[in-house]
Amino acid sequence: MIKYTGPKKIKTAVFISGTGSNLKNLIKFSKKKNSPITIDLIISNNSKAKGLSYGKFFKIKKKVFNFKNKILIEKEMLSVLYKYKIELICLAGFMKILSKSFIRKFKGKILNIHPSLLPKYKGLNTHARALNKKDKFSGCTVHLVNSKLDSGKIILQKKVKIYKNDSVETLSKRILKQEHKLYPAAIKKLFG
Ligand code: GAR
Repeated sequence: MIKYTGPKKIKTAVFISGTGSNLKNLIKFSKKKNSPITIDLIISNNSKAKGLSYGKFFKIKKKVFNFKNKILIEKEMLSVLYKYKIELICLAGFMKILSKSFIRKFKGKILNIHPSLLPKYKGLNTHARALNKKDKFSGCTVHLVNSKLDSGKIILQKKVKIYKNDSVETLSKRILKQEHKLYPAAIKKLFG
């Protein structure tokens, strides 16, 4: 595990597929004096991802990779990550599954945020599944990425109450708010 030991901050790449509210939040966090990371690269599999606009706004290098040929693309992605001397990858709403061999190359250096209380509801549609099951709580989890989907070591979790009249929209909005606190807290816990 990387340990933050001094003035040198950890060079981080954030991977996104969509809106990028976690990305924006991580960028803001990285600009704080006590943040152990800098965000040096934004990677997306989707050229239309709204979150890519934060690259322009905050003057952070961004790269789009079309995941049609995963093996080839991951090779290209690795060379870009090495070029920018990236030491940590934060997945933030990144909806592609990285290969085992890619994950091995960044072993212990890839974090993900997932909108459920893992190990419950790995994969997609977490809010709908929690509502269907009439759960009393859901939440979010920051975990290390290993070769099994949403199964790596849990760093931090936040529980969020589910109300009777909640919809996917209201619940996801409330959980997202907590995600924005949880991701920086997990990074501080690991490297701060
Ligand atoms: C977040 O809720 C994140 O936890 C989830 O996608 C959303 C992205 O929002 N991630 C996953 O479902 C990963 N499997 P954002 O683009 O606004 O950060």
